[in-house]
Amino acid sequence: MSPSPGIRWILGIILLNRVCAEDILDPCSPCPESCNCDVDLQQLCIVNCTSARISDFPALNSLPSNELIIELDLKSNQIPDIPTETFINFTKIEKLNFYGNEIENLTDDVFENLDTLKTLFVLVMLV
Ligand SMILES: *[C@@H]1O[C@H](CO)[C@@H](O)[C@H](O)[C@H]1NC(C)=O
Ligand SMILES: *[C@@H]1O[C@H](CO)[C@@H](O)[C@H](O)[C@H]1NC(C)=O
Ligand SMILES: *[C@@H]1O[C@H](CO)[C@@H](O)[C@H](O)[C@H]1NC(C)=O
Repeated sequence: MSPSPGIRWILGIILLNRVCAEDILDPCSPCPESCNCDVDLQQLCIVNCTSARISDFPALNSLPSNELIIELDLKSNQIPDIPTETFINFTKIEKLNFYGNEIENLTDDVFENLDTLKTLFVLVMLV
């Protein structure tokens, strides 16, 4: 038993609406090249840039709105330092991972005011 043509037509419109809505309303776009961005249940963004060959923060300029990022995984990149103001707009961040970078210089205050942060992985080279 297949749906009548009228019903099929309505189903088609519903489907089309969903696809368009997802495209336009994706809060986690644009996603940086070589990263994966997912939306969680709270409409916040989980950004996975593991092994994305990122070597500086300007490469992250295309991140989705910083205030929507709840997790940022930068594991196994080539980031040498984290500028002081980098996370100033990351007001919802709960998990940050820099493990497997070659961070040489970290100022004390870079993670200051990240009150929401629950998990932080950083490996700092002692030079
Ligand atoms: C993050 O991306 C890497 C590389 O694409 C993948 O191996 C890993 O499973 C991803 N992690 C999560 C939590 O999705
Ligand atoms: C933080 O957000 C403000 C307002 O949108 C913007 O002007 C500023 O450049 C942002 N700072 C950083 C470091 O992203
Ligand atoms: C480390 O960062 C501080 C503050 O940004 C800067 O003054 C200093 O020159 C940096 N040191 C190295 C070795 O890059």
